[in-house]
Amino acid sequence: MTETALTAALARRNTGRPPVWFMRQAGRYHSHYQGLKRQVDFITLCKDPLWAAETAMGPVHDFNFDAAILFSDLLFPLEVMGMGLRYDPGPKLDFHLQTPADLARLQGGAALAAGLQFQAEAVTLTRRRLRADKGLIGFVGGPFTLYVYAAAGSHENAAAALPGLSNGLYAGFNEKLLDVLAHNMALQARAGAEVVALFDTAAGEIDAETYGQHVVPVLADLLARFRKLDALTPVTYYSRGTGPAHWDQLDGLPFQCLGIDWRHDLCEVLQRYGDRYAIQGNVDPDWLLLPAAELEPRLRAWFAPLQRLSAQQRRGWICGLGHGILQKTPEENVRLFLRLQRELFA
Ligand code: CP3
Repeated sequence: MTETALTAALARRNTGRPPVWFMRQAGRYHSHYQGLKRQVDFITLCKDPLWAAETAMGPVHDFNFDAAILFSDLLFPLEVMGMGLRYDPGPKLDFHLQTPADLARLQGGAALAAGLQFQAEAVTLTRRRLRADKGLIGFVGGPFTLYVYAAAGSHENAAAALPGLSNGLYAGFNEKLLDVLAHNMALQARAGAEVVALFDTAAGEIDAETYGQHVVPVLADLLARFRKLDALTPVTYYSRGTGPAHWDQLDGLPFQCLGIDWRHDLCEVLQRYGDRYAIQGNVDPDWLLLPAAELEPRLRAWFAPLQRLSAQQRRGWICGLGHGILQKTPEENVRLFLRLQRELFA
């Protein structure tokens, strides 16, 4: 495998310009994506590997990002477990996990990952179309985030999922989910994803103590299962609404990159955690809604302390946003971000 800026940064030995990609870079803000959505629906874009590869390539072509991300969604494991899944346009499941009878309806186990083979094909086709110096990112949802979607339908109603942490529903769900998810990660890696991101978007809905009690052991279990299938592919763990009190409890888990949201000072995080992890982040996605004339000085000021770091101090930085790019983001602001990043770290 060729070393890309992405794989070098993941191994914390990147000495050149930090690689840059955005969460949700293939999405509704982009005219390329809008054009594809006029031809086929979201599910087809995800499940037909040719469309998925075309969707993933759009932002790499148009903006010259340093990596593509598999075009898919993190809820498909819930579909193969028997929960149904529609997009209307937000995700809708046939039922929510609220009672033991709901849990009994769920399938589980490694064999279900065969139903996610379309992601492996999408990864293979995307890799084939990507230039050798571009990275390719696979992803799955974190178990807690998937549980919150299964129990409450979205993480806006996370409260409806919380009783399950103590009444056995969360534990029963994980028993069925973890092998599906570990095999899901492995099939993306085998197909050519150079890193698998675990998106734990709902992790910040609980306090650090509850997180340590209920989320960390399940992440440890998932990563142990994945490492039996794949000892080497790096893993990024992204969580939103978390901070050092959560992250410090992840010590020793076999993942290589910590993705952080926009609420943190990136230089401080690099200093405190950069010996342990590559660090991904973390510009506030809201900034990209500003007029370009306001965005430019703000980005320059944000990049300045990072420019002052030595190449050694920022060797594990993967540049991006603190969460997904917003639908109303003007394309010219994406171009501006990438142009500045290239200019300032050339
Ligand atoms: O470019 C990329 O980043 C790759 C594709 C990707 C999508 N979803 C495509 C998508 C990725 C990595 C995701 C992850 C995802 N999906 C997360 C975790 C990361 C995050 O952003 O927090 C979550 C929580 C989901 C679940 C999900 N899928 C939601 C909540 C929604 C609705 C979003 C909304 O704003 O309405 C989706 C649909 C979805 N997934 C779209 C895309 C491009 C929009 C589909 C459309 O209407 O065209």
